[in-house]
Amino acid sequence: MPPLRSTDSPRAAMSTQIPVVLLSHRGPVSFDRDATSGERTATRGAGGLVTALSGLAAHLDEAVWVFVAAGEEDVAVARETEGAPARLLLDPEPRLLEDGDDQEGRQFPVRLLEIPHEVHEPFYGVISNPLLWFVQHRLYDLTRSPSLGREERTAFEEGYVVANELAADAVIEQVAKSATPPVVLLHDYHFYLVGDLVRQSCPDALISHFVHIPWPEPDSWRVLPPDMRNRLLNGLLGCDIVAFHTRADARAFQLCCQELLGLPTDLRSMTVSVAGRTVRVRVYPISIDIPALEAIAHTDASDEHLVDLDHTLGTGRLILRVDRTDPSKNIVRGFQAYDLLLAEHPEHHGNVVFLALLQPSRQDVKEYADYLAAIGAAASSVNAHHGTGDWQPVDLRYASDMALATAAYRRCDVLVVNAVADGMNLVAKEAVVLNERDMVLALSEATGAHDELGQFAVTLHPFDVAQQAEALHEALTMPPQLRRERREHAALIVHRNDVKRWLTVQLRDLAALAGPDGSSWTDGADRDHTGRPA
Ligand code: G6P
Repeated sequence: MPPLRSTDSPRAAMSTQIPVVLLSHRGPVSFDRDATSGERTATRGAGGLVTALSGLAAHLDEAVWVFVAAGEEDVAVARETEGAPARLLLDPEPRLLEDGDDQEGRQFPVRLLEIPHEVHEPFYGVISNPLLWFVQHRLYDLTRSPSLGREERTAFEEGYVVANELAADAVIEQVAKSATPPVVLLHDYHFYLVGDLVRQSCPDALISHFVHIPWPEPDSWRVLPPDMRNRLLNGLLGCDIVAFHTRADARAFQLCCQELLGLPTDLRSMTVSVAGRTVRVRVYPISIDIPALEAIAHTDASDEHLVDLDHTLGTGRLILRVDRTDPSKNIVRGFQAYDLLLAEHPEHHGNVVFLALLQPSRQDVKEYADYLAAIGAAASSVNAHHGTGDWQPVDLRYASDMALATAAYRRCDVLVVNAVADGMNLVAKEAVVLNERDMVLALSEATGAHDELGQFAVTLHPFDVAQQAEALHEALTMPPQLRRERREHAALIVHRNDVKRWLTVQLRDLAALAGPDGSSWTDGADRDHTGRPA
């Protein structure tokens, strides 16, 4: 493996020749069939994780990205390719390349993994989303839930464990095809068991697992039966590196290893000792791809949406939120806070609109379907309380439209992120970079983004509706000069810590760990991604 090189580009941080195998649940593309023509269509995957990994994969010469075939047409592609990687061209529109089809542009091999429906359903719909997501975002009302019966136990054994084994098999196959030991980069809460499975078959591979969602303290994990939580932790400890977005998450993970597994951990050097090995716990706050975002924000479609928004709002103020309809996003309390603001500050009546651009999410999970209904009711209630013939205070739109979102980022006066818990929250970063009106960021203290941007934001306390109402008033009445200074500072931070830096620092650490004696590793051992000492 090559030595560490001092550089600021992902391509140079680690030799592009090192083979890399990536695994995540969602992938960079999803396939469908056009309703009229019957032709296969391909759509680029959305979300921060997918965007960041697309940047990574495109930077490396030998990266294979394994992800789960989600819809019917994905499964058709998985079957046609029979588990062999196919080359994906990303731009301008994603498509699989045939052999000999030489194209310029961002491209890398992808491998779609078919997980049988009877396995995927309990894996995704019973364990990953309601159970792990809810534990990690602390969403349970513990007087009533979770209530773990036979169904959940079976879903764990026959869903989560089996899906993880299938994913591990695919990764192991890719590792085996590689002439030199590859770097294996595993992502998120769907695949906590894969690290250990891969280590058992491929002891030479360098394995890292990135947890993109919050990691709570040991007591939150105690809602899971000991055998279940221990297996999840031991799965992660099969890796060389376990990475998080925040120092608090990394620390909580180490406390879990200490308290739940009784393992020696060193909070200063951020290591856990297990079975004679040292597992490094690291902090790399994810960020955004600014040129790619700006490209979307300066399309005709985005400009047209901006003209529409300007036309509708006139001189009025715009409060904006852009979220999946996830209970962790705290959308209902956000509307309640706005309701209170309008009740206590009639001076805002007629002058402000709260635009909520919401993407329905995980609707086959009951808690999410119920939450969607609660969002609709909360928005209607605000409009019923305060609306007039020519002013509706809430404009609720269910849409997943980046052109519209970027136009709204450009036009908004306040961007609301009041999440109960959020690993990072990239909406906050996108908005401060694109905004053209010196917006105020109203940001939950429970987001990873608050570590970087909190000092330039109005902080929101996610459970305190009255505080959120006051904070919205403060944001709407903040003097222009202060707004400008804060937004500019926040944008500067995001420009400095962009997704390229997120990738570069990780790859540099991996290259150091992969060095002949691993000696360069200590160089980065007690610093986080932003260079702050531990
Ligand atoms: C979060 C998770 C991702 C997930 C995404 C969308 O960002 O960290 O792993 O892919 O939400 O959720 P979905 O269930 O639609 O994949």
